[in-house]
Amino acid sequence: MFNVAKIRKDFPILNRQVNGKPLVYLDNAATSQTPKQVIDVIVDYYSNYNANIHRGVHALSQEATDKYEQARQKIQRHFNVAKSHEVIFTSGTTHAINLVANGFSSILKKGDEILVSAMEHHSNIVPWQMLAERTGAVLKVIPMNQEGELLMNTYQEMLSEKVKLVFCNHVSNALGTINPIEKIINMAHDVGAAVLIDGAQAAPHIKADMQKLDVDFYTVSAHKICGPTGAGMLYGKEEWLNKLPPYQGGGEMIAEVTFEKTTYADLPHKFEAGTPNICGGIAFGGALDYMNAIGFESIAEYEHELLDYATKKLLEIDGLKIYGTAKNKTSVISFNIDNIHPYDIGTILDKLGIAVRTGHHCAQPIMDFYKIPGTVRASFSFYNTKEEVDILVEGVKRAKNMLL
Ligand code: ALA
Repeated sequence: MFNVAKIRKDFPILNRQVNGKPLVYLDNAATSQTPKQVIDVIVDYYSNYNANIHRGVHALSQEATDKYEQARQKIQRHFNVAKSHEVIFTSGTTHAINLVANGFSSILKKGDEILVSAMEHHSNIVPWQMLAERTGAVLKVIPMNQEGELLMNTYQEMLSEKVKLVFCNHVSNALGTINPIEKIINMAHDVGAAVLIDGAQAAPHIKADMQKLDVDFYTVSAHKICGPTGAGMLYGKEEWLNKLPPYQGGGEMIAEVTFEKTTYADLPHKFEAGTPNICGGIAFGGALDYMNAIGFESIAEYEHELLDYATKKLLEIDGLKIYGTAKNKTSVISFNIDNIHPYDIGTILDKLGIAVRTGHHCAQPIMDFYKIPGTVRASFSFYNTKEEVDILVEGVKRAKNMLL
């Protein structure tokens, strides 16, 4: 039995009030909240062994290095990565995607094709546009239907030997669609294209297996999975990481430096220039420990109950339309009511202590597709409750009455 009351006690922030009302936090797709167990990891780091890593012979530096490398191994185990040096610490998904896009500058040629899905976050569009501009490669878009599902037949038709890279999110941040990434990866591999999957929105709900997926690159941000901001990972197959040039130059990523020539360090350090977010990386590992102790199957099952309940209740409101009705989706509901601007609904909900995201969710092409300025997005986590869904529904009804 999933004990949400017990789980909520782990999250100090859930006790606070906003505008005189108990906080109802439904902006989990933007950032998840942090349990005490992860806060303790952060406090322990700064209280007991704050030091730079891979550099000093002194005890603190050694302890910090050990914990950082242990965190890398936790990430390796969680995502079933074959080799720990295939896990590159980054500041998050955006950093990870830019690292790969930059690396492909020296691989792509004019006329090569890059495919991106129609439901990408700006972070999985703009770096590839910049790459296309640099190389003369052509960016093409895999379309989607009104439900927010990719048109796989069209994708099949778009694939040819000209396609060198395919980019797609595992889960859409704006719609919640879970994309059929196994198929997407296999079909791309059939024409020899590499695939990057943006796992930022999937990681809180789905435990992805890198070896089973046979994906070339996969990216995650720690702050979506109960970890801190400014930490994340790039998974890359060893053969690809060896092929790509370093992203940033600096300390830590070198083997030898002279003024004439520099040679680079082995993986993973080749991609980890400068002092990293040491505490963030260690706390990322702590967050995975926390979520795995609850169990991803129980989390997904519970969140699905919340999704079904909230979808049913919200659809009882006259004029409410949900964007993103894929058969396979996570606990994200994007909606609008008649012609009311999403921002106005979000502002009234905030007055009631309810946190949702409003706007284009860094996915303007999706909003253009539906011909809307944005949506109100409620995104649920395993620490939310049906009572909170009821509060949201009452809040939305109240907002509608005030605004119509
Ligand atoms: N990408 C995050 C979101 O969807 C910030 O809100």
